[in-house]
Amino acid sequence: MSDIITATAHTNIALIKYWGKENVDLNIPTTSSLSMTLDKFYTRTSVEFNNSLAQDTLILNEKEVDPSRVHRFLNIFRSEVADFGSVLVISKNHVPTAAGLASSASSFAALTGAMSGLLDLNLMPTQMSRYARRGSGSASRSIFGNFAIWNKGEDEESSYAESFLNEDIELSMIVAEVSATSKKMSSTKGMQLAQLSPDYATWVERSAVQLKEMKAAILRSDIERVGLIAQENSLAMHDLNWNCPEPFDYFTDKTRELISFVDNCYKEGLLAFVTIDAGPNVKIITSRAQEKYILKRLQDNFPDLQFDIAHAGPGIRVEV
Ligand code: ADP
Ligand code: DP6
Ligand code: CO
Repeated sequence: MSDIITATAHTNIALIKYWGKENVDLNIPTTSSLSMTLDKFYTRTSVEFNNSLAQDTLILNEKEVDPSRVHRFLNIFRSEVADFGSVLVISKNHVPTAAGLASSASSFAALTGAMSGLLDLNLMPTQMSRYARRGSGSASRSIFGNFAIWNKGEDEESSYAESFLNEDIELSMIVAEVSATSKKMSSTKGMQLAQLSPDYATWVERSAVQLKEMKAAILRSDIERVGLIAQENSLAMHDLNWNCPEPFDYFTDKTRELISFVDNCYKEGLLAFVTIDAGPNVKIITSRAQEKYILKRLQDNFPDLQFDIAHAGPGIRVEV
């Protein structure tokens, strides 16, 4: 048996968002969600047993950091598979950590892949997705490449992601990096507060309709519809954050400037839409054909910002 196991998983950006839990311990969501896995951003994680360590240890980007979330995750394997000693986790994020660019998705998917290798579990993708979900809900989708859907389900057994379409539809995401520093409000906490919004039930209902329309639009490679629905779904998610009993905001002035710039591009007849997660960074949805032109326009208007173009990316890989 190999002593160190390494796995790589890419981040994913939801076109229909997950923003609320029915069960907090198990990460059972209130809605189904649909995402595109990105080629450009990923996490590579290695694991090994190390009995000389007093506790599970996480080295993230060459620094030792608080291992408590990883420890809680490893305890799931300890209680469900086999009891084992301390694990050394060495991870590198090729994506900003905790900035709304889905580091928790790529990192818990990669950790799931690495642990299933270390424990020789031979998991089916569905089983991997269930484990990854318990680390971070969005990680359930990063097991798969291209387009994945996380069917909400209702319990441990039925809540997992699967491939929706394992093909590229020439959709491009231009990631505008407004800030790479970590957010003050984690996704976990943010959605818990947002669920208390008086508009939450309406958001959940609307999400089911949007999901249906989104699936059809993806299958038609209809980038305009994909972009319009994703934008509406995401902006409504942020409305919940502003309209809940303890309001909070992930946007900065730059975020707002980008939103209105992209809206003007659309009004000019271009394919340009936004989707924004739990952070100030903006993902601009466009087509392969228009990506270079839109990128140039963005760079000319926001010379201080860094932009990256991402396309559909691969599912998880465990190195043998
Ligand atoms: P993001 O928008 O990046 O997904 P979240 O608030 O959802 O932000 O999750 C960020 C948290 O995920 C971090 O605070 C950390 O606990 C965990 N995390 C991120 N990257 C890693 C990693 N490579 N290994 C282990 N845990 C990680
Ligand atoms: C806005 O998966 O990071 O990115 O399950 O508590 O770890 P936890 O939350 P997380 O939430 C992601 C929220 C989102 C939308 C999405 O990715 O669907
Ligand atoms: Co996250």
